[in-house]
Amino acid sequence: MIRVRKIAHASYEVPDVEQQTDYYTNVLGMTLVGKEKDATFLANTVDHHSVVLRKGSQAQCVRVAFQIGEGDDLDAFEKQVRGHGIKTQRNKGPEPSISELLTFEDPKGTVIEVFQRADFSHQKFQAKGIVPHKLGHVAFHVTDVKHTTKFYCDVLGFRESDWMGDFFSFLRCGPDHHTINLVETGSNRHFHTAFELRDWGHMQTACDFLSVNGYKLIWGPGRHGIGHNLFTYHRSPAGLITELFAELDRMNEELGYFEPRPWHRDNPQRPKVWAKDPDAANLWGIMPTDEMYK
Ligand SMILES: [Fe+2]
Repeated sequence: MIRVRKIAHASYEVPDVEQQTDYYTNVLGMTLVGKEKDATFLANTVDHHSVVLRKGSQAQCVRVAFQIGEGDDLDAFEKQVRGHGIKTQRNKGPEPSISELLTFEDPKGTVIEVFQRADFSHQKFQAKGIVPHKLGHVAFHVTDVKHTTKFYCDVLGFRESDWMGDFFSFLRCGPDHHTINLVETGSNRHFHTAFELRDWGHMQTACDFLSVNGYKLIWGPGRHGIGHNLFTYHRSPAGLITELFAELDRMNEELGYFEPRPWHRDNPQRPKVWAKDPDAANLWGIMPTDEMYK
C-alpha cells in the first residue's frame, strides 16, 4: 500500500485570526508566509506552511495534511482510499506551494488532505519567539478510538506505536513515535497540537518566554512514559492546547524498536500496550491537571 510519510500542516478555525496569528508569530516564533482573503499561513521549516488559520465561530482543528513520497502516485493513493468506500475530492492549486490536493474525511469529521511536495521553502531562522523545529503531532479526542485508529492504519498507512489501555492510541507515519494520537473520551474534538523543540535547554527558554508573555503551563514539564518525550502544555489565545516537546522516541523501522535511550524501562523499547498507569503519562510523577481535559 502507499503510505503517507509525514504530517505537513494543520488548519484551524478561530474566532480571532489576528490574535492567534500574533501568538504563532511573536510567541511561537513561526514565520507569517502568506495572507489570503480568508486564510493565514504560518511556517517554520522546508514546508511552505505548517499552520493555516481561518475565521470560524469556535476554535477547532478542521484539517490535517499529510505528504506522500516523491515517487508515490496520488492517483493510485486516491484509488486506494476509494477502495475503502470513502468519497474523495481533488483540488488543483488549493493552497500556496501545493499543486494538487486529495481530500476526504476521517471518521471524526476532520478533513484529511494528502499531497506530494514538489518544491521546498526556505524559511529564515526567526529572531523572535520560541522557534520550534517543526509541527510534530496533532492529538484528538474521539468517540470511537478503535474505529478511528483502524482508519488511520488501513487508509493512510499509519502504524501503531503504542496504546494506553484500550482507550489511547499513538500512531506514526514516519520515524517519530507519533504524528497522530487519539484518546477516547466521548466527543470528537481537538486535544492538542505539538511542536518539537531542540532539547531541555530550549524547553526552559520556552517556559520562561511563555511566562514573560503571560502564558501559564497547564501540565509539565515532565517526561511522558509513552513516547518518552519531555513535555509542557499551555493554551493558545484561542483556547486550543499547544504542547512543546523534545526527545520524542524515534522508531528504527529496520530493527522494529525505538532508538534506545537510558530512560527506557524496556530494553529494547518496542511498540506495546501500556497499562493505565501514572508512569505511562509522566515518568516524573506529576499527573495532568483537570485543565488538560476541559
Ligand atoms: Fe502530545
